[in-house]
Parts: sequence; C-alpha cells; structure tokens
Amino acid sequence: MRSMGNAATTSDEFVRHTTESLTDGSFVRLVLSRSVDPADAPEKVIGRLVELKAGPYLSLTFRYPTRDTTKNVPLDQAAIWAKEQIGVRFRSALLNTTKRDWQLFVEDSGAAKLVAHKPANAEAPSRAHDRPRQAILDDSARDWLRGLGVLNDRGNVRPTMADKHAQINRYLEIFTHLAKDCGWLERGSGCPTITDMGCGKGYLTFGLWHLFARVWKRPVKVIGIEVREELVASANALARQIGAEGLEFAAGTIENAQLPTVDALIALHACNTATDDAIRRGVEAGAHLIIVAPCCHKEVRPQLGRPAPLAAVLEHGIMTERMAEWATDGLRTLFLEWAGYRTKMIEFVSTEHTPKNLMIAAVRDGKPFVSTAARARVEQFKEFFGIHHHALDEWLRHGLADH
Ligand SMILES: C[S@@+](CC[C@H](N)C(=O)[O-])C[C@H]1O[C@@H](n2cnc3c(N)ncnc32)[C@H](O)[C@@H]1O
Repeated sequence: MRSMGNAATTSDEFVRHTTESLTDGSFVRLVLSRSVDPADAPEKVIGRLVELKAGPYLSLTFRYPTRDTTKNVPLDQAAIWAKEQIGVRFRSALLNTTKRDWQLFVEDSGAAKLVAHKPANAEAPSRAHDRPRQAILDDSARDWLRGLGVLNDRGNVRPTMADKHAQINRYLEIFTHLAKDCGWLERGSGCPTITDMGCGKGYLTFGLWHLFARVWKRPVKVIGIEVREELVASANALARQIGAEGLEFAAGTIENAQLPTVDALIALHACNTATDDAIRRGVEAGAHLIIVAPCCHKEVRPQLGRPAPLAAVLEHGIMTERMAEWATDGLRTLFLEWAGYRTKMIEFVSTEHTPKNLMIAAVRDGKPFVSTAARARVEQFKEFFGIHHHALDEWLRHGLADH
C-alpha cells in the first residue's frame, strides 16, 4: 500500500502510526535519516521504547559519524517530538511495528510518499533499558597497558602517557562506530582479519585486539606489521605473555609485506606517501574498511599551484603547509571514493594532544574504478591545485585497467 501527498499531511499520517504503535504495544523501532541540514545533524536517529522507573519513554540514539548521544522523551511528549522531526528535520523515516512497517520519503520538491510493508518483526523487543556500557579501557586492559608502559606498576596512567591513553581510548571509540557500520557487531558476523601497518610498539594494535576479544568477546585476527624487528619481537613477547589469542606481529614493510585476505587495513601515522602505499594495499586487498591517520605530507607541497584567489594567502609559508596537507588528504578521499569506498574524515584526537589529528576512514560501498564522475572529481581537484603527480595516480591508472 502506498499513498502520495504533500509533506505535511503524509508526515502527519506517519506520526499517527508512530504514536498508535507506541501506545498499543506494537512499536518495534523508529529510524529517521536524511537530515535537511546534514552539516551538524546526526546521520540517523534511532528510537526504542524503554521502560524506566518513571514510566515508558521513547529512547532516542543520535548517531553521528564517530559518537552516539542519547535522549529519553516521555511517551506523552513523543508525538510532539515526532511531529517536529519527521518530514521537517528528516526526510526519511522508517517505523517498524509488529502489525506493519511504514516508510516515509519526502522529496526536495515537498512531495511525500508513504509506503506500507509486511512487518519484518513478529514480536516487539524487550522494553528493558540497557545496562550502562562497559568502559573500553577497563581493568581487563591493565595487563597490556602496563606491558606497554602506559600504566605504572600501581595501575595508574603515567603522566607522560596520558595523551597516548586518551588516543587509544578515542581510537577504540571511533573504531566501534566503524565496526557497527561494517556489521562486525552483529551476531554470526565471523572472525574479521585486520592488519595494522607500521604499528610501532603496538599501542593501537593491542587496543584493537582488546576491543574485540575482551570488550565484545568476539573472535578476531589482528596482525601488526612493523619494519623494526625489535619492536615486533617485544610486541609478540607481550602478546604471548598475556595470552592474546588472535594477535600477532610480523616484520615487514607497508609497501611489500605479504598479507592474508584482510577485512580491514589500518595505517596510523605512517610518514608521507607510506599512507598512500597503505591505501593502495587496502584497495588491492579488497578490504572492507581502510583507516589511515596521515603523518607528514611532503609530496604535494612543492607542486602546489597558486590559483588566483588563493595566491596572496599562499604567500605565507604556514598557509601553504596547511593547504598542502588539506589538498593531500582531500585527494586521498577522492581517490578512495573512485576506488568504490564511502569516506569519512574525522578528528582523531583533539589538537591539544597532537596537530596530526585527522583520520580518513573508508568503507567499501561499490565497485572500484567504475564511476566516471568520481574519476572526474579527482582530475578537477588535481588541476585546480596544480598537482601533476600523486603517489596513488600511477597505481590507480593500472587499477582501472585491471578491474
Ligand atoms: C609514527 S610511528 C606510528 C606507530 C603506530 N601506528 C601508532 O600510531 O601509534 C610509525 C611506525 O611505522 C614504522 N614504519 C615506518 N615506515 C614503515 C614502512 N615503510 N613499513 C612498515 N613500517 C614502517 C616505524 O618504524 C614506526 O614504528
């Protein structure tokens, strides 16, 4: 069944189905998406019905790229909240009930469509409120954090390692969101293989293993690749000492290390074009998820042109430096999009801890190297900035022929 109409009346009908299902017990879930103002809006809002001490509430999770926030709306105010949001702030809405599922689409033109489907859920979920979430770096992380020198013998964060501790925690929070996006938190999702290229001492590699094995209690294979053999040996010794099943370190380079089939490829703070090598290896391996946090940027700066409106500003060295970083990382995301990935650029750690704080996360979304529009965006960007050579160019040109 479907009905067409203007946004206001069709949205009102959707809101009516929502409030009815909240009161007659058939409500399963509400999902709002396609914000009218995507700049600072959540990607999704997910509503669940929960029973709190004070009564029933519509519990809302606002899903941003790297964090969730929550808000509980008393059931008697849910209709007002829904009317303010549905079709007004969000153009798509999905309501699952045990009787029927409803989908609302509002077009830019203001036309709206409401479609009814057979219910995907025969039973309403538990109304119990979730227990508080486990802290990521909890007591079960003490052995490896102490082994890596982040904690002292008394189990406290060493003052000189406070930034590192914050960085590991933030990284694992971000990874949690990306893992959800990749479906790795769903039951029966198997045992992903993750390589961490240029892993150094392995702070973030141990962290990733900890997240799967000890926080989520899920199987995982994490391989740290590092060129310095003494770091590989000490990381392997610590992994064995704490009985970290599924975690291993191997000597090798980002450019050439032999890789198994990987689900995720990560390279954090790899210098200059080593980040591009990591992107290339990830695309080549068909990794579902690629994460890089670039370090220094040397390739683009000497090539950077001075397009007229920017020329006077680029007289200042620091602005050229920043523009070169901006252009390098921007180009990396455009390449990744052409290679079939959906990209996100995220502030990794706050600038008060380090200026190298940008992270590019790419989730495979489609076929590589087929979108001529995506390729054109790469070319236009290079032309604008006067970039005639980029580390990913050559390989991606061959990639186009090979795929
Ligand atoms: C800045 S550290 C980053 C370590 C870790 N990824 C982190 O973010 O905490 C860079 C590490 O990459 C290693 N490295 C540099 N070039 C490499 C390459 N081409 N292949 C593999 N490892 C490399 C260095 O030895 C060093 O341990």
